[in-house]
Amino acid sequence: MMCFRKPPPDALGSLGMQLLRALLVLCVCRLISGYSEKERAHDLMFKFPLIDGHNDLALQLRILHNNRLSQIDLHNVSKVATDISRLQAGHVQTQMFAVYVLCGAQEKDAVRLTLEQIDVVRRMCTEYQDFELVMSVQELRDTEMRHKIACLISIEGGHSIDSSLPALRMFYQLGVRSMALTHTCNTPWAESSSKIYNFFQNRQNTSLTQFGKAVVEEMNRLGMIVDLSHTSWDTALAVLKHSKAPVIFSHSSSFSICNHSRNVPDWLLRELKKNQGMIMVNLHTHFISCRNDANISHVADHFDHIKKIIGAESIGIGGDFDGATSFPKGLEDVSKYPAVIQELLKRNWTEDELADVLRRNFLRVFEEVERVRDQLHLSRPSEIQIPMEELQNPCRLVLRPPDPRGVPSGQTHSSTAELRSPGLLILALFLLLSRILF
Ligand SMILES: *[C@@H]1O[C@H](CO)[C@@H](O)[C@H](O)[C@H]1NC(C)=O
Ligand SMILES: *[C@@H]1O[C@H](CO)[C@@H](O)[C@H](O)[C@H]1NC(C)=O
Ligand SMILES: *[C@@H]1O[C@H](CO)[C@@H](O)[C@H](O)[C@H]1NC(C)=O
Ligand SMILES: *[C@@H]1O[C@H](CO)[C@@H](O)[C@H](O)[C@H]1NC(C)=O
Ligand SMILES: [Zn+2]
Repeated sequence: MMCFRKPPPDALGSLGMQLLRALLVLCVCRLISGYSEKERAHDLMFKFPLIDGHNDLALQLRILHNNRLSQIDLHNVSKVATDISRLQAGHVQTQMFAVYVLCGAQEKDAVRLTLEQIDVVRRMCTEYQDFELVMSVQELRDTEMRHKIACLISIEGGHSIDSSLPALRMFYQLGVRSMALTHTCNTPWAESSSKIYNFFQNRQNTSLTQFGKAVVEEMNRLGMIVDLSHTSWDTALAVLKHSKAPVIFSHSSSFSICNHSRNVPDWLLRELKKNQGMIMVNLHTHFISCRNDANISHVADHFDHIKKIIGAESIGIGGDFDGATSFPKGLEDVSKYPAVIQELLKRNWTEDELADVLRRNFLRVFEEVERVRDQLHLSRPSEIQIPMEELQNPCRLVLRPPDPRGVPSGQTHSSTAELRSPGLLILALFLLLSRILF
């Protein structure tokens, strides 16, 4: 802007005068141009568009439309908080989309359901020109040049891999680049912050089992970002000590500001800083104010506090739209992110700090995760398997030869199979009855 041009050198007076002049110019400039925080927020987000850590649109697509994408136009979807027009209005350039399946699917069909959620995100991000599915930092950067919204796929809950490293690797092949180790249920190998499900409760020393460590190692080797949102603090600490790469909390806020168990206490934030990972602040009202209502001030309090503890270089944003049920006033959908940046500008956050929060921190973490992957390129895929006694899963087929006496395992043949045919049974019964009667 012309207003900020330096005065010619001969016009310079004392240092005090210079400062005064600068201030005056700034004030007049603001008055004339009306360059408000609102405009500054939009300009900044135009230059540094948001990478958001968590969005549950795919879950809503299943709940509301049974994943039938043909029924809707993603440019403009009512009943949800996320669509293309509002992502664009909110300067969201990259969205991490969760492929979440309910904890109730653990020990059932979690893997199939996860595949179906990956399918719907992949369809969404390939059938619409405004989206592009990305799997690397380079691809993410390229989409910015092309003014597209990058989609990253993230599994929310380790139950999705059914305690199988081969399944984890295949999810990676399908484009998954991040996984939250738990949702609201324990897995056989990691512990949740929630106790609402009784999977694998009352067991000792299971915050991160040997198999859990193998999962983290394999994620490091693959280049998949470990996400600690939803894990217990013990599990988070164990992972922070074990992971070779930085990790994220993709959608959690500050426990000091609102003492919800999904939020992160200061001591854990300090461990996160040692790991050079980041926390992406969740906007869900209940995690922001610990009450049923909240506003932008409450949200900004979380940012201020976390900055005080570990610095702006460790912070991002993970809105949790379409996953969480209620949002602060003024932050009702994905078009409203600029309001957060506006409030932080008002609170004297610098543009440099906000550029970090908006995208540079995430890019740094993702790049580092890829660097660790490259370092590990000589290590082989892990063949570690979870001990069967840690599973208690009746749905797992145990491979063994068919029982000759015909246990109905679905794998038997010959005589037993014939006997199970209802037609033959009826015939046998008829013959028997006719012998008796006649
Ligand atoms: C979205 O659709 C609604 C009606 O379904 C319409 O009122 C609204 O203007 C549309 N918005 C955009 C951005 O197209
Ligand atoms: C708990 O787990 C750790 C690491 O997995 C192991 O070193 C330790 O011996 C275990 N403690 C008990 C009591 O099982
Ligand atoms: C949060 O704080 C309130 C009031 O101080 C207290 O009653 C509650 O038990 C705390 N919750 C947690 C999870 O620490
Ligand atoms: C948010 O609510 C608090 C009261 O809970 C109030 O003090 C504050 O001014 C509000 N902020 C905004 C931006 O409305
Ligand atoms: Zn969540």
